[in-house]
Amino acid sequence: MTTALITGANKGIGYETARLLAERGVTVVIGARDSRKGEEAAARLGATFVELDVTSPATVKAAAATVEERFGSLDILVNNAGIGEWGLPSATSATLMRDLYEVNVFGVVEVTNAMLPLLRRSPAARIVMVSSEVGSFASAIDPDGPWFDMNALAYQSSKTALNMVTALYAKELAPIKVNAICPGYCATDLNGFQATRPAAQGAAVSVSMALLGDDGPSGTFVNEEGTLAW
Ligand SMILES: NC(=O)c1ccc[n+]([C@@H]2O[C@H](COP(=O)([O-])OP(=O)(O)OC[C@H]3O[C@@H](n4cnc5c(N)ncnc54)[C@H](OP(=O)(O)O)[C@@H]3O)[C@@H](O)[C@H]2O)c1
Repeated sequence: MTTALITGANKGIGYETARLLAERGVTVVIGARDSRKGEEAAARLGATFVELDVTSPATVKAAAATVEERFGSLDILVNNAGIGEWGLPSATSATLMRDLYEVNVFGVVEVTNAMLPLLRRSPAARIVMVSSEVGSFASAIDPDGPWFDMNALAYQSSKTALNMVTALYAKELAPIKVNAICPGYCATDLNGFQATRPAAQGAAVSVSMALLGDDGPSGTFVNEEGTLAW
């Protein structure tokens, strides 16, 4: 049995990741901060629900205890939960930025460290960090690139931080494979469904790194086309 925990899995890319993993025979645990939404999503997929607000160490600890009690170990952790904020640097308060980092960066560290003892019991553990190409330095400073006009201080820099978090965990945790992915610009609540790409297409990138074989890479940043520049 392969077991996966996906954070922020009640909707959007996280839900689609859970759905696709379940289709592949993985035993899925839906992490969600809202019990009603999480229970509903889990019921639709025949999955297990755990309450998990990534900014609440108590719920993270309780979620790890539940996974341990139910499954004994964890094979796949998808750090998917994230929030957006699109203000220019001059219009972004440090308070707002701190709140966003609580979810997109510190929450990832909280969840990863809490789940590590369970992941270490897996013979082939995988950690997927759901990042974004807009957090890439190379992309942000390329005047000819598609994201040059975007200048969203909190969100973009949070994903840059997440990329470094990924690289450093990957160095420490081998043979656990730790990779960052960009799902692409997908239609979800995060962007008011302005994108046209289905969430499932973005989720497929998470799934590919969640189900990596033993010969797969670690410490990479990829989208569906291949390696992205940091
Ligand atoms: N959509 C895109 O184009 C795109 C592109 C690149 C990267 N991403 C990344 O993909 C990931 C998923 O985003 P999405 O587009 O699917 O957005 P979404 O539909 O808004 O889903 C975000 C999920 O994160 C959850 N979440 C937010 N704060 C949380 C917290 N404190 N604790 C636990 N869960 C929390 C949300 O729960 P609630 O329902 O309770 O709010 C929801 O389940 C994010 O990391 C995002 O940055 C998205």
